[in-house]
Amino acid sequence: MKGIGSWACAAAALVSGALAASYDDIPAIEVYGQHFFYTNNGSQFYMKGVAYQQNYSPNGSTSANTSYSDPLADGNACKRDIPLLKQIYTNVVRVYAIDPTKNHDDCMSQLATAGIYVIADLGEPSVSIQSNNPEWDVTLYSRYTGVVDALQKYKNVIGFFAGNENVSSGNQTAAAAFVKAAVRDTKGYIASQNYRSTLGVGYATADVPTRDQLAAYFACQPGNAGNKTSIDFWGYNVYSWCGDSNYAASSYGERVQFFSDYPVPVFFAEYGCIEGLSGGPTSRPFTEVAVLYGNMTDVFSGGIVYEWFMGDNDYGLVSLVNSASASPYPDFTSLQSQLATVSPTITMKSTYTPSNSAPACPSVGTSWQAKASPLPPTVNPQLCACMVSSLQCNIKDTNEADYADVFNYICGAKSDFCAGITRNATTGTFGSYSGCNPKDQLAFAANQYYLGNSKSAAACSFDGKATRQSASTASSCAALLSSVGTAGTGAVPTATGKASGAAGSSSSKGAAVGSYSPGQFKYGGVVMGAWVAVAVGSLLGMLAL
Ligand SMILES: *[C@@H]1O[C@H](CO)[C@@H](O)[C@H](O)[C@H]1NC(C)=O
Ligand SMILES: *[C@@H]1O[C@H](CO)[C@@H](O)[C@H](O)[C@H]1NC(C)=O
Ligand SMILES: *[C@@H]1O[C@H](CO)[C@@H](O)[C@H](O)[C@H]1NC(C)=O
Ligand SMILES: *[C@@H]1O[C@H](CO)[C@@H](O)[C@H](O)[C@H]1NC(C)=O
Ligand SMILES: *[C@@H]1O[C@H](CO)[C@@H](O)[C@H](O)[C@H]1NC(C)=O
Ligand SMILES: *[C@@H]1O[C@H](CO)[C@@H](O)[C@H](O)[C@H]1NC(C)=O
Ligand SMILES: *[C@@H]1O[C@H](CO)[C@@H](O)[C@H](O)[C@H]1NC(C)=O
Ligand SMILES: *[C@@H]1O[C@H](CO)[C@@H](O)[C@H](O)[C@H]1NC(C)=O
Repeated sequence: MKGIGSWACAAAALVSGALAASYDDIPAIEVYGQHFFYTNNGSQFYMKGVAYQQNYSPNGSTSANTSYSDPLADGNACKRDIPLLKQIYTNVVRVYAIDPTKNHDDCMSQLATAGIYVIADLGEPSVSIQSNNPEWDVTLYSRYTGVVDALQKYKNVIGFFAGNENVSSGNQTAAAAFVKAAVRDTKGYIASQNYRSTLGVGYATADVPTRDQLAAYFACQPGNAGNKTSIDFWGYNVYSWCGDSNYAASSYGERVQFFSDYPVPVFFAEYGCIEGLSGGPTSRPFTEVAVLYGNMTDVFSGGIVYEWFMGDNDYGLVSLVNSASASPYPDFTSLQSQLATVSPTITMKSTYTPSNSAPACPSVGTSWQAKASPLPPTVNPQLCACMVSSLQCNIKDTNEADYADVFNYICGAKSDFCAGITRNATTGTFGSYSGCNPKDQLAFAANQYYLGNSKSAAACSFDGKATRQSASTASSCAALLSSVGTAGTGAVPTATGKASGAAGSSSSKGAAVGSYSPGQFKYGGVVMGAWVAVAVGSLLGMLAL
């Protein structure tokens, strides 16, 4: 009995010890110059990655399906997939949306034990930086910092994507400014929380005509300690090598040339074209692998194949037989044999001296609409809460669908009322409160209107959507509010503390995230840009407000 008892005890200790140890003990990966390196021995790290998320369309916000399942929260699925992932030499999985409220220990320890690292996107389908109506605001900030909080302790996390393909057509380049602001604030948050300094933040770009300007924009004006504004790595989603293509026809050669003087690592954040294959989507020959891990390695750090699970878009490498078993498609085997033959040249950090410097920023013109600086202001949830308490007229209507009319009315009456909430990435004009949530932004504007109309009771109604309140300013708010000033156009101090605690509104990260309903409310480019046009025509109609 004793023998068995102590054996069981020892086994339990071993298991829990192993669980804690594998993601604690795996060497972190760091960025140095243009490459990734293992921190334990300074040996270069190449990604052999797979996109790992079921039922997820990464071009997210266009899909009506806003639910997602967290691929790092299901230990049994990880147990099913990891042995197969190892068969194709996987050392990185890319996940597109995790749920920060779930526990990830089981999958993360299994992955670490298998030597597999993770890169996680920070958004989720209903909370992401939208291409046509971009913002960087408190809701997004809570989501992003929540994901960082949830994953930072695992040393097999390489880093995060602050955006994925958010600029996907020529008229969406302004969105880059908001993603870059997200990069800056996420990096600032990691530093302020004293999280592991090797955690990187990058962007994954679509292969669009503005690709070179995008790459320059995200790496230019890198800022300095305490205010780092550039990406740590650049992900490139590329589907230009289809079937048995080649270095020139796929434009891989051009990309290598373009990125040869880029200051940070570049890798394929998605690859694996399925077009034009006589054997159908699952017959990918993966002939690009020999080149990617061959003569491209001076410039590229490997890549992430799109994708693990078979879904509606036909890119999967395996089909699920049942919850415990998956079955590989033919292209899984092609990928395996291609990867089996590569042996990329390993550079040692000790013999490598980075020589590339930050590129020049693209200038604003017909093909590029994001000014390099100023970027959208830093998001500071505490500032927004302080501002709302300091108002004499607040919004009580919680239905965001009602807000556009009121915005139009107030901003149309006098644009000064809205200086604190305006945002235009092309001119670099941003109100200090433009990163607050819609209700708080509207409250600021309503209060400006109220003050500007001699505080008459009628000037704080807006058809019953607003109400007067007694203003208060906590001592912890005084400096924040004075920095921003009464017009709401001064400098925004950087947030301190955990996002969830500072939000001032409802409690948990989960609640903050859940309360956001995208698409209900579009006042951004659409309505805000239309003030002037709307104002004259609608003033009469708006008098009912
Ligand atoms: C460095 O460490 C990593 C992780 O343990 C290992 O995979 C790699 O082979 C090592 N490189 C060298 C040159 O020892
Ligand atoms: C929506 O996503 C969920 C979670 O991934 C999935 O279970 C469901 O099948 C999806 N629904 C549709 C209609 O695609
Ligand atoms: C870009 O053009 C498309 C199609 O005309 C349009 O739907 C979209 O709203 C435009 N986006 C922006 C930011 O102007
Ligand atoms: C923008 O980036 C976020 C964060 O990675 C992502 O979740 C979202 O799907 C992207 N939006 C679009 C429209 O692609
Ligand atoms: C942060 O760095 C950017 C880019 O160099 C610069 O434009 C901005 O003024 C800096 N902000 C602060 C507060 O120093
Ligand atoms: C890289 O390899 C491809 C295919 O083998 C070849 O066509 C190309 O010229 C090579 N490029 C360089 C820079 O060596
Ligand atoms: C989103 O991705 C799906 C699957 O890859 C594709 O069918 C669809 O056309 C994409 N939508 C947009 C707007 O890019
Ligand atoms: C930003 O300002 C410019 C110049 O006034 C204007 O042409 C553009 O439409 C504005 N953009 C938005 C999104 O309002």
